[in-house]
Amino acid sequence: MAAPPHLLSAKAQTPNPPLSTLPSPCAAVEMFRSPTAAAALLRRLAPRVSGGGGGGAATRWRFPPPVSASVLSRFSSTSTSSPSPPPPSAAARGDEAEDGDHQEESGDSGARLSITVDRSGLYNPPEHSHEPSSDSELVKHLKSIIKFRSGPISVAEYMEEVLTNPQLGFYINRDVFGTSGDFITSPEVSQMFGEMIGVWAMCLWEQMGQPEKVNLIELGPGRGTLLADLLRGSAKFVNFTKALDINLVECSPTLQKGQYNTLKCEDEPVGDGTRTVSKLCGAPVHWHASLEQVPSGLPTIIIAHEFFDALPIHQFQKASRGWCEKMVDLAEDSSFRFVLSPQPTASLLYLSKRCGWVSSEELEKVEHIEVCPKAMEITEQIADRISSDGGGALIIDYGKDGIVSDSLQVWILNSFYCKI
Ligand SMILES: C[S@@+](CC[C@H](N)C(=O)[O-])C[C@H]1O[C@@H](n2cnc3c(N)ncnc32)[C@H](O)[C@@H]1O
Repeated sequence: MAAPPHLLSAKAQTPNPPLSTLPSPCAAVEMFRSPTAAAALLRRLAPRVSGGGGGGAATRWRFPPPVSASVLSRFSSTSTSSPSPPPPSAAARGDEAEDGDHQEESGDSGARLSITVDRSGLYNPPEHSHEPSSDSELVKHLKSIIKFRSGPISVAEYMEEVLTNPQLGFYINRDVFGTSGDFITSPEVSQMFGEMIGVWAMCLWEQMGQPEKVNLIELGPGRGTLLADLLRGSAKFVNFTKALDINLVECSPTLQKGQYNTLKCEDEPVGDGTRTVSKLCGAPVHWHASLEQVPSGLPTIIIAHEFFDALPIHQFQKASRGWCEKMVDLAEDSSFRFVLSPQPTASLLYLSKRCGWVSSEELEKVEHIEVCPKAMEITEQIADRISSDGGGALIIDYGKDGIVSDSLQVWILNSFYCKI
């Protein structure tokens, strides 16, 4: 995984200040936009925030501070002695009132609702946030997510934005591989890598009884070099190459174009439309944004080289109050910094149930742990697909065989830049 250094230079790990409670970010936005909506919203939420029933789970927020009963009372409808009829909007507000007290107060003839919005507790972006900054568009985008949420985001969300944000992500608009890129992968070093994987794929196809049609799926094909070497290496085994239906799972439009060129693809007319064919072997080629989108129903050969290590991870750290999630926040000077969640996050609760493979003895020994739920999800999809369609998968990644505690690092122009 590689990313620009200014995105990932956060180091300090300070506990996050206590978080306050509001029902949802959308609710807060509504408050800014419309006092009417704010009043109706707060009336709806009153039982929750005051603990008086309602029972909905509240989302943790750092700003604004908890909504107290006194704040709620400021949103209540009040009667005034104004003789003028309520304007249509005020009448609408009266209609929204659901609780008996409000209706009673506005029941007087000529009564008018007046609503004031107390914004003192709402988040105010610091003045300097409007000053011109040298931040890249991606940094601005990440900071705006944290500001909008009024609180830190998980390392997984940060990583997903940095790597695959549809406009600004690391992989999305450029070729990051090779000697002129940020890192190099095995297929880019030697053609033997793709050829060897071709031998494995043909053996698997033979073991499956040489089916006439087979789905060859590659997850995260990069420049397409591995697949091109596989196809060139197996070109003489015509029955194999003739059986192939090639499906590439790639999120980057730039890399998709590169793969099209590397596989010597051409668009051929078929029926009313066209189909894309690799001139290296004559097999049809399709692109998909996710494995789920690849049609099933054919025996399947799946290859994933250095794909799983590009998927977003959650990181957790042991603190005196127990395991906390490591989050990315903004420091006073607007730079990124790591903080620890003040209490278990939803991800931590979910993962601690799901990750039964880590024994409590093992957990005793580590201070940090990282988990990739997306990798678990995709692995399950692969297993389901192979158990229903038949076939096999070859997943290659490099790392420690055991609990991974802290593997995030930055490489730039093929040099190790820093561990984060
Ligand atoms: C580290 S590169 C590996 C490239 C190639 N397999 C190789 O060995 O050279 C990761 C690849 O996965 C793609 N990728 C990363 N995250 C993805 C996602 N969530 N969905 C689809 N493709 C993704 C990237 O665009 C890139 O092609």
